[in-house]
Amino acid sequence: MIKLLSHLSYVAVTSPDVEASVDFYVTQVGLSVVDRIDGAVYLRCWGDYYAYSLVVIPGTEPSLATMAWRTSSPEALEEAARLLEAEGVDGEWFDGPSIGRAYRFVGPWGHSMTLHWDVVRHQALPAEASIYPDRPEKRSKVAGAPRQLDHVTIATSSVDDFAAWYNRVLGFRIMAKTILDEAPISVFSVLTTNEKSHDLGVVLDGSTRAGRINHYAFWVDTREELLIAADVLMENGIPIEYGPSIHGIGEQNFLYYREPSTLRIELNTGGYRNYVPDWEPNTWKPSLGSNNFYRNSAMPMSMTESFPAADGPSATEEGVPDEIKDALFNPYAKHGQG
Ligand SMILES: [Fe+2]
Repeated sequence: MIKLLSHLSYVAVTSPDVEASVDFYVTQVGLSVVDRIDGAVYLRCWGDYYAYSLVVIPGTEPSLATMAWRTSSPEALEEAARLLEAEGVDGEWFDGPSIGRAYRFVGPWGHSMTLHWDVVRHQALPAEASIYPDRPEKRSKVAGAPRQLDHVTIATSSVDDFAAWYNRVLGFRIMAKTILDEAPISVFSVLTTNEKSHDLGVVLDGSTRAGRINHYAFWVDTREELLIAADVLMENGIPIEYGPSIHGIGEQNFLYYREPSTLRIELNTGGYRNYVPDWEPNTWKPSLGSNNFYRNSAMPMSMTESFPAADGPSATEEGVPDEIKDALFNPYAKHGQG
């Protein structure tokens, strides 16, 4: 198989209050608005190379509208669409803003994905132009503002099946997975199209609602910027949901908080690069520190909330089966520091 995909290019989300979300991204995260089309607002980080990396679309609830990957070539776009349709996927071709001819489909677990080759490279206005040739524009003046989009993490009813399908059909490398200490239940996996530990995360979803998103992440250059962002968010009255700390998987510093729609945003930095073409994914357990490198604090239950909200009275509040809650949220009580 030729290399099909190169990297995550943008994430589109829905928000019940687009202007409240956009104001938050501009003032608290440090993104800038680049366009408005049919009610959708297009935003970017200061270091994103293309026209935009985030689209906020009007909707009745917070959700993933689509997650977009740039292919590795024009031929790879055609090949990816051919392979998807050979799998029975029924996608559609369309012309998208600043991405030209693109292929959009809904995967087997209900997640919209957009593939495109064409891009429009960001051209800064004179007042925003950097003095450095490689920078798309000047560094943001918002403290701790991310340089660029990093990854998206979705929720699905079968982590292993999801990972295997995206590996087999589109060539995502599977980098690691987490199973529970008590039972061979896969609760998390990370996949990548490049040398990063992941640009697509997968969490177990116990709800009956397909196509949900757990969070998406922006990259900051340094841990210090991540800590400054946390400091400033606290000063501005924005609750921090989890972190700052380090994930064992990927060894990335993380910080989670929510935008006004309640959708979860992550800032991250650090971690390894992995270029191994035949990497064999390791299996982690929560007690090994998959989520918390230091093995000294449990992940808050709220972190399992995915979007949109789970359906129906039979769904647990955050879509996590009752029988695995203890194993997920209190792994160190039973298993100590390992
Ligand atoms: Fe993440």
